[in-house]
Amino acid sequence: MKTNFTIRQEESKDFFTVENLVREAFWNVYQPGCDEHFIVNHYRSNPDFIKELSLVLEVDDKIIGYIMYSKAQIDCNDGTKLDVATFGPLAIHPDFQRQGFGKILVDYSLEKAKELGIPCVLICGSGEFYGKSGFVPATTKGIRYADDSEGDALYFLCKELKEDFLKDIFGIYHDPKGYFVTHENPEDFEKYDLQFPKKEKLKLPGHIF
Ligand SMILES: CC(C)(COP(=O)(O)OP(=O)(O)OC[C@H]1O[C@@H](n2cnc3c(N)ncnc32)[C@H](O)[C@@H]1OP(=O)(O)O)[C@@H](O)C(=O)NCCC(=O)NCCS
Repeated sequence: MKTNFTIRQEESKDFFTVENLVREAFWNVYQPGCDEHFIVNHYRSNPDFIKELSLVLEVDDKIIGYIMYSKAQIDCNDGTKLDVATFGPLAIHPDFQRQGFGKILVDYSLEKAKELGIPCVLICGSGEFYGKSGFVPATTKGIRYADDSEGDALYFLCKELKEDFLKDIFGIYHDPKGYFVTHENPEDFEKYDLQFPKKEKLKLPGHIF
């Protein structure tokens, strides 16, 4: 078991370090370059941001991991809306990946989310990774991802923090608007990214964007 780490809420003095860490972790992973650091930068002033769940993981007083959560909603088929949460970006610095820190940070944040009364968390991601923290495909619980036309996406996952919260619930989940900030402000993003160290954008096999 790992013991040489601490997890705490992000503070304003961490903002640049966190954004640079997120950029390092996501760079060229899903697209040439990345924009997840811009999403974090904007989310902090978004009413959907859950500051208690904006968490940094430190090893030897150095931030090597970060996760943030957003309020989200399920549009139920009966016309009601159900308050839930989502998380991301989740980032572990490339030098510290595959050492268990990602899972530790996810599990810790889920415990905190439960303490805050969040009943359910929905995310898109790897079933292999998040399955270890108890996530299952959300379609098995009656919730469909809005972008999934077939309604069988295995990458759309959920975890109930309140037992049977999704029992008898059927609905659609849309990503909260805060995650689309780059598409809405492409020029602001280009300017914002210039403050970080120069990195080469590469088009790699397996990119989803
Ligand atoms: C994804 C990420 C957060 C995982 O963190 P990590 O610290 O590397 O993961 P862990 O060491 O805790 O992994 C625990 C287990 O999950 C699985 N796992 C980890 N990363 C995985 C991946 N990318 N794909 C599939 N399974 C993965 C493995 O089974 C791993 O155990 P193993 O190393 O013994 O095989 C980290 O690699 C990262 O920051 N990646 C870039 C950004 C990103 O993709 N974020 C998540 C977006 S959904």
